[in-house]
Amino acid sequence: MPAPNFASRINQALTQRRKQGLDRKIRPVIGGNQSELEWNGRRFFNFSSNDYLGLAHDAELLKAWQQGLSVYGSGSGASPLVTGFSHAHNNLESALCDWLGFERAILFNSGFSANQALLFSLLEKGDCLLQDKVNHASLIEAGMLSPATMRRFKHNDTAHLSSMLNAEHATLVVTEGVFSMDGDCAPLAELQNTCIDKAWLAVDDAHGIGVLGEEGRGSCDAAQMTPDILVVTFGKAFGLSGAAILCNQNTGDYLTQFARHHVYSTAMPPSQAYALTHAIEMIRTQNWRREKLNELSATYEELLVDLPQYRQTQTPIKPFVMGGSSCTVNAADYLRQQGLWLTAIRPPTVAKNSARLRVTLTANHNKKQVKTLAAGLRQAIERQED
Ligand SMILES: Cc1ncc(COP(=O)(O)O)c(C=O)c1O
Repeated sequence: MPAPNFASRINQALTQRRKQGLDRKIRPVIGGNQSELEWNGRRFFNFSSNDYLGLAHDAELLKAWQQGLSVYGSGSGASPLVTGFSHAHNNLESALCDWLGFERAILFNSGFSANQALLFSLLEKGDCLLQDKVNHASLIEAGMLSPATMRRFKHNDTAHLSSMLNAEHATLVVTEGVFSMDGDCAPLAELQNTCIDKAWLAVDDAHGIGVLGEEGRGSCDAAQMTPDILVVTFGKAFGLSGAAILCNQNTGDYLTQFARHHVYSTAMPPSQAYALTHAIEMIRTQNWRREKLNELSATYEELLVDLPQYRQTQTPIKPFVMGGSSCTVNAADYLRQQGLWLTAIRPPTVAKNSARLRVTLTANHNKKQVKTLAAGLRQAIERQED
């Protein structure tokens, strides 16, 4: 047997990706966190960023981060249990608990690592992990690598989940609050009822926090429920990056001891924690950002509701579902020529034959931009029909 050859394995995988029309490109852009971006000397309306509330380039938030830098310096210098945890981190955890109504908040450098840390530290062999079929890759991958037995229930189907629950195993049910590629909401109150006395419920609200609920408290607040565990990420509505797991006191103590992505990773810069605390204040008090999103959503709906590719959502994520991968990529290329920046999302990120343009609205967009987008999407469809 020849020795395994990484170079040929890499070549084969790349060739296959290209043949399937599924290879992805990374492009350096200027202003990817603004409503207009620049690439290759051209300007585009940006409908691809997750900066839902328009905070990533907000002067007030930039100033807060700069202030944090002048007080705390740049890097945190160590992992949290060594010397990386500062008053700025402590204040951020308290602000999160106060806002979201949990006893503890544990910080992470990304949502991906928070999800991995949660599943790896909580689950043991013999446990049962039940996940919504279309949960984010970070959750599905963590579940596959965890020692628990993972099963996936049909998307948002509480009856299917119920049929999988039994009292014999310690069971964790995991769902997103708002699904990242579909923009739809999980039936959180129903899920919670289904889990009573049978399982813990964890909600990853990466796309709902800041956007939904009173003072932007997210999907759980909108559904008037509190999960056992809530994951929030800071790379979207917060306009920054990082994440936190919210939970009760004991679970927080447990994660502080055993969540390896927390224990063995350099803490986020204290200036970032300082800026994040300021972002919470902005999210809570600047309701106009959520109102603006609702207005833009209404305009988008009014202009496109008659098209079969349109999907109604209560969130700024507006999937425009085209079906085939190559027609979706063609549409994205065409729209780019028209000055509209949209990302084609294809399998394996979404199910086969459900490739889509993932439109995201932000509080920084204006109606004129949304009208231009709607006209462009219509032309892209008409062009394909000719
Ligand atoms: C639902 C969900 N959870 C977690 C993550 C990962 O978060 P981060 O980008 O902070 O790693 C994402 C990222 O897009 C996401 O959509």
